Amino acid sequence: MRWPKGLAGLCFGGDWNPEQWPEPVWRQDVALMRQAGVNLVSVGVFAWSWLEPEPGRYTFGWLDRALDLLHEAGIRANLATPTASPPPWFSLAHPDALPVTASGVRLSHGSRDTYCAAAPAYRAAARRIAAALAHRYAGHPALAMWHVHNEYGTRCHCDHVAAAFRHWLRGRYRNLAGLNAAWGTAFWSQHYSGWEQVLPPRATQYRPNPHQALDFRRFWSDQLLVAFREQARLLREATPDVPVTTNFAFGDWVPIDHRRWAGELDLVAVDSYPAGSGIEAEQQAAFLADLARHWAGGRPWLLLEQAPGTLADRGAQVATAPGRMARLTLTHLARGSRGGMFFQWRASAAGAEQFHAGLVPHAGPDSRIFAEARELGRLLPRLAEVDPGGVAAEVAIGWDAPSWWALQQPHLPSDRLDFLAGVRRAHRALWEVQVTADFADLAADLSGYRLVLVPGHYLATDRVAGAVRRYVTGGGHLLVWYLSGVADESGRIRLGGYPGAFRELLGVLVTEFQPLPPEATVPLRDGGHGRLWSEQVRLAGAEPVRWYAGGGLAGQPAVTRHRYRGGGNGRGNGGGLAWYVSTELDRDTYRAVVGAALAAAGVATGGLPPGVDLVRRRAGGQSWTFALNHTGDPVRVPARGVDLVSGARIDEAVRLAPGAVAVVRGAG
Ligand code: GAL
Repeated sequence: MRWPKGLAGLCFGGDWNPEQWPEPVWRQDVALMRQAGVNLVSVGVFAWSWLEPEPGRYTFGWLDRALDLLHEAGIRANLATPTASPPPWFSLAHPDALPVTASGVRLSHGSRDTYCAAAPAYRAAARRIAAALAHRYAGHPALAMWHVHNEYGTRCHCDHVAAAFRHWLRGRYRNLAGLNAAWGTAFWSQHYSGWEQVLPPRATQYRPNPHQALDFRRFWSDQLLVAFREQARLLREATPDVPVTTNFAFGDWVPIDHRRWAGELDLVAVDSYPAGSGIEAEQQAAFLADLARHWAGGRPWLLLEQAPGTLADRGAQVATAPGRMARLTLTHLARGSRGGMFFQWRASAAGAEQFHAGLVPHAGPDSRIFAEARELGRLLPRLAEVDPGGVAAEVAIGWDAPSWWALQQPHLPSDRLDFLAGVRRAHRALWEVQVTADFADLAADLSGYRLVLVPGHYLATDRVAGAVRRYVTGGGHLLVWYLSGVADESGRIRLGGYPGAFRELLGVLVTEFQPLPPEATVPLRDGGHGRLWSEQVRLAGAEPVRWYAGGGLAGQPAVTRHRYRGGGNGRGNGGGLAWYVSTELDRDTYRAVVGAALAAAGVATGGLPPGVDLVRRRAGGQSWTFALNHTGDPVRVPARGVDLVSGARIDEAVRLAPGAVAVVRGAG
């Protein structure tokens, strides 16, 4: 992890787009930034046509003046390469660099992100503008960090992509025999006898080959990474002392494996746009923030974008209540972000996002949002002392982007399987009882955790199977949900009974999947029910803890646990315990099962109402407790020390009004 050059403490600011405004507005902007305590702004993210209005003719004068203004005001620049939006002249000159959908439609210029990341002309133009910026601004005193591109996330299926895909596949399989085996091409006469026959998964007659689709997702993430790497190399050569990042987007549409990318960023940076304006916004923010910490390898990271003062809720931009903007920011800070940045500084007067919120709204600085920005700007420096690491979690949730992608295929036994929903559900169950979660790669050393939750981990390599086995035989506790470990990394079924890779460990043998149609439920013996999915579970060492109570599975195990003796990871666990859940449990049963697994693993819960967020950070004999009350009721959170938010001494407990926050510094 490397920090923006010349910046101490936490980052505060947003995207600043001087190209959209006359210069007198820039001066007002910079004065307002100083008033608000802004110390970092992202500049030039979509300014390519403004920087290079014709091929090879650069107009850097305006950016020179904008950066000079920032520097005079002591504000640092996160300077972008503008490659997420090539200018109209580029698309006209290089129609082969426009992206092609899976159905073969070539898209036209008119929005942003309209390029093919594998097209040689695009890549060359992107390198040229990145090199020109690096050359021009290497010595500029405002330059603190490079912001490569914006939210890598486009897709393409053109012939350039086909060529690059074949190249990638040759690297992975060496020969066609390997590819044919991994893709199961004996099925439906798909056997390949020449590389030129291999294509990206384009629109086809019926179900596409799921193994091909999965490899294409892997390839495309790697291909975008190659494009990032080319720019990053040029920037690093010009300015070895300036960190390089890109802003990660997150969601179903994002085709990158963030964890694989993160090692190539000097600082992991994420954009956080929760969907929904209720408490789910805070849950999603906490989820993404914990995920960002995983991508960052446990090191600090940066929240680079969030919307100021609004939340998107089913087509409406809902205003947040006073103080919520700060609370959402603290949700990220509690989990390792070293700052709170926004999209954007000033709301645009025109363009496709003219109604997107800004810290300076259309009404100007005499507004609620700007007032809240100023307050946040005053609060953040008081939180800078919180140790940049130090988020200690006893529980982890398995994260695996390829499993996510594999469960998006259309050929599965149910079309409602959803990796992300399963992982979110597990995270929410912990969040509601104030248990901080890490995300983890299951192939890593898991021995530091008391409990590991594994929802929807459809693919499991032999390495994952081995690491999970070592963890449990060493005394770790494991809670696995249905459809985990079922397939190998290509998506081929692990034969001999489900759940393949984890079968022996869980002490069960699943002989049959019994997915349920929408609306159908299967009753459980103690009053709850399952939905979406059920299974015929045969015990092979495990003991049942919940039973199906109706239908063809009546009387058979629905939830099991398998105890290992003689292990012990030195954390008082005794022996390892491996739980298995074979259906999608109703809310109360789900909570009860997670609660039982936490208790068995010796993980203490917070004992506070759901909606109170509690994160402890510890380092060097000190602790910082972030307590955020997202509920509508006052709460009392046990703590001792000094509240950095109010400055008050806390003797026993901090009382939080609805919506209030505290960060209590205490002893160890
Ligand atoms: C982000 C993107 C920004 C802006 C913002 C608001 O995803 O990086 O450029 O579009 O969303 O929609």
